[in-house]
Amino acid sequence: MMLQGRRAFITGSFQGIGLGIATALAAEGASIVLHGIADEKAMTKAEKIVSSLIAKILASGPIDILCNNAGIQRTGLIENLSRDTWDDILAVNLTSYFDTMKLLLPQMKERGYGRVINTSSVHGLIASVEKAPYVAAKHGVVGLTKVAALEYAHVGNAETGGVTINAICPGWVETDLIEPQIQAKVDLQNGDRAAGIADLLSEKQPSKRMSKPSDIGAIALFLCSKNAHNITGASISVDGGWSAQ
Ligand SMILES: NC(=O)c1ccc[n+]([C@@H]2O[C@H](COP(=O)([O-])OP(=O)(O)OC[C@H]3O[C@@H](n4cnc5c(N)ncnc54)[C@H](O)[C@@H]3O)[C@@H](O)[C@H]2O)c1
Repeated sequence: MMLQGRRAFITGSFQGIGLGIATALAAEGASIVLHGIADEKAMTKAEKIVSSLIAKILASGPIDILCNNAGIQRTGLIENLSRDTWDDILAVNLTSYFDTMKLLLPQMKERGYGRVINTSSVHGLIASVEKAPYVAAKHGVVGLTKVAALEYAHVGNAETGGVTINAICPGWVETDLIEPQIQAKVDLQNGDRAAGIADLLSEKQPSKRMSKPSDIGAIALFLCSKNAHNITGASISVDGGWSAQ
């Protein structure tokens, strides 16, 4: 139980990638503070998977691991996007990450161990059309991650584990977030979901395989280990080669 006694706060963790990270960390003994906007159905599913940990959400105490993961996506050409859409995407996908880090990094510093894992995106490294606010926010997360890594690199040592701040940059992961983009392709394929997904992947993700939330969870888990004490300020691509092109 690598994370026994550790406490993790994961934003946007009732479903999708956040729930994948919560499940991976909980399996190694971390207690989890779940967070997000959830309807009753999604909440029940999350409770089922990390059931015994729900009671701990309200318990007070330090946070060892912060996973900033909440995110929203709206697409459209810049000339058609509203200022409200821009503000909403920047607030959820970037500003909230700053707020939580500002609040939680000082208490990680005190204990010499802390992990911040920010869910950025392949769109934190490269661009696509019709995603200006999302791409701007995700690039912002990569920059924020690097600055925080520099500010906390001196904290702790290999024994305590240090305080590290990293970004994970997924390509396509099959979650609700990309369902509208999947559906658009499925419609073009006369309702054939597998063909629609294959079409979506073939455009940009050379492996032609979707990632699963549990794949991202496994990487987050590794970053929480003490062995990862010298990985900081990194942007880890999980995109089947998308950003290598
Ligand atoms: N799915 C992908 O292909 C993909 C690829 C790259 C990056 N990402 C990123 O992964 C992260 C998780 O997305 P996902 O794919 O699991 O999608 P998702 O829609 O399943 O999950 C998004 C989560 O964010 C939460 N959230 C949204 N707005 C919120 C708000 N205002 N306050 C609190 N919580 C809020 C939701 O409750 C939900 O739990 C996002 O940051 C997303 O940009 C996803």
